[in-house]
Amino acid sequence: MSLISQQQIDEIIERNDIGDVIGEYVRLERKGSGYSGLCPFHNEKTPSFSVHEGKQIFKCFGCGKGGNVVNFIMLAENLSYFEALEFLAERVGIVLDKSVSKEQEEKQKIKNDIYAVNKLAARFFYETLKKSPNAQKYLYDRGIRAETVKQFGLGYAPDSFDALYKYFANNAIAPNPKLLEKAGLITAKKDDRGYYDKFRNRVIFPIFDVQGNVIAFGGRVMDDSIPKYLNSPETPAYSKGNNLYALNVAKKSQSERVIIVEGYMDCIALHKAGINWAVASLGTALTQAQARLLKKYFNEVIIGYDADSAGQKATLRGLDILAHAGFRVRVLSLAEVDAKVKDPDEFLRKHTVDDFNKAVELSKSLVEYKISKIAEKYPITQLESKAMFLKYSTKVLASITGEAEKDLYADWFAKKYNISKDALLSEIERLQSSGFSEDTDNRTRKIVRSASIASKNKSQSEETHEQIRQKTPEEIKLDKHIKRLILLMSEDKKAKEKYYGKVKEINDSEVNGKLLEKLNERYEQKLKTGVETVLADMTDAPEEDIRLLTDMISKWMRPPDYIQACEEILNKCIIIDCERRLACINEMINDANLNREERSALVREAAAIIKERMKYKNGN
Ligand code: GTP
Ligand code: MN
Repeated sequence: MSLISQQQIDEIIERNDIGDVIGEYVRLERKGSGYSGLCPFHNEKTPSFSVHEGKQIFKCFGCGKGGNVVNFIMLAENLSYFEALEFLAERVGIVLDKSVSKEQEEKQKIKNDIYAVNKLAARFFYETLKKSPNAQKYLYDRGIRAETVKQFGLGYAPDSFDALYKYFANNAIAPNPKLLEKAGLITAKKDDRGYYDKFRNRVIFPIFDVQGNVIAFGGRVMDDSIPKYLNSPETPAYSKGNNLYALNVAKKSQSERVIIVEGYMDCIALHKAGINWAVASLGTALTQAQARLLKKYFNEVIIGYDADSAGQKATLRGLDILAHAGFRVRVLSLAEVDAKVKDPDEFLRKHTVDDFNKAVELSKSLVEYKISKIAEKYPITQLESKAMFLKYSTKVLASITGEAEKDLYADWFAKKYNISKDALLSEIERLQSSGFSEDTDNRTRKIVRSASIASKNKSQSEETHEQIRQKTPEEIKLDKHIKRLILLMSEDKKAKEKYYGKVKEINDSEVNGKLLEKLNERYEQKLKTGVETVLADMTDAPEEDIRLLTDMISKWMRPPDYIQACEEILNKCIIIDCERRLACINEMINDANLNREERSALVREAAAIIKERMKYKNGN
């Protein structure tokens, strides 16, 4: 992937009029200062999709999707931000000056060469399977039919030391053995006299990237020998944590949700059953890169890992990463339907797809799953551990942001664990007003860390249960304030000069941080500025951020006085910040383990913050 300059991004957006582009996908009717039509991203009968020509944005009031022309193409064509830019550049005949370095070029060439030999190897394995009754029988016995073999390009590596190597050697294009070695298909013999095949007598699962390149292989033995699975090593074309098996298929499903399972066979079994929105993480812990990759196509993740303890540990780790990437997360528990099955593949061999779908509907939300894990650790049958259970689970409940949702969960919790709902709600209230729910945010954490006394305060188990956080109402407000400040600064150079540093200091979101830096670059390089350019700078930001910004831009009105407008918002931000710091200090002061000195230091700090807050509440 090449880097496209901000200037070129602006040019691409300018020359692709949003009305023209969307007009190619949606029948638009003129309405006021723009157009309206039926939303292409959800089913509707009356138009709630609108295109604003002046601001060059689109927005659907039904499903909430919105953004600029690039965001539209990302959604409509299922492309990444940069792919969408390339797409739009081509549409209007802009040639991208890909300032790729020699080094990058070289790397890309090696990758492409590996893709090419992998493709040939995949074809060889596929053809070989047709001639191997044993391997065919193995797959057949596991419920796999020709159709699935074809869809996933399954194959067989023969029981020979050099069948693949020879196949290549005899091939007209005979690639260099060094390249085959780089691709992880063959290994040099110890004495350096020749090579042997890496995959021998195994059923082969080619691994594709989202573009459809064969990037690696997995091979399974057909008996009980070990290792059960053998995978390609890391190569220039393949690094384990960057891809997900079958994503190339699942991304086309148009599904909002994706299910992540552990194994090749689980994933294939699901696809076979018509659940074409399944991917596999292939036995490794889910990475942030994988979460980001998934976020391009889906909004909700269902984790369908094995019921064993390794699978459950992987689930916990995965939850954290996925929630941070902005997913709604749910956890599937097939064991609750049938305690004897280990994984989705086994489940589907014993039960119907309907049963599976029912289990999906019953899958636990993040909150339920977290609480059930706490209950496992602190059984409510004993009085003492029940107290711990309540302590930690109320923290989880206190972290829920929506009132209605909180009430629903409180209901559920009170019934399930036989607690009075009123008592529960007031405890949640208490936790929330002390500002200390389970989601102590990053900023508070920083403070907690810097005040070293806090280390005693945090018990071990608290750390382990600190997993996911939804944004607190304060954070949501702060995020919005900062976005507004960025928009204001994008329209007024003086405001930018005056407030850039302060906003940067107060901001703690990665997305806003990037926007700020890009805005700064725009001013420094004398490029175009203004609210639309902020949207153009969003590149790979989460959809949530794009929606929010689109919303703000669609309602955008220039303030009479930029400096004053910034000043007012900044005051609000500082007050929020003070409050968060105070809440954190209050919590720390309540710790019985503090000595007098520590306590009075905290009290002094609190007093200083209160003073600061007063200053801003009174408008300086
Ligand atoms: P089947 O026995 O074929 O049903 O496999 P499974 O998918 O149920 O396997 P399991 O739950 O044991 O493992 C899940 C995934 O972890 C597999 O699909 C592999 O990707 C990976 N895996 C399992 N065993 C090994 C192994 O021995 N070596 C490597 N490298 N990966 C493995
Ligand atoms: Mn299995």
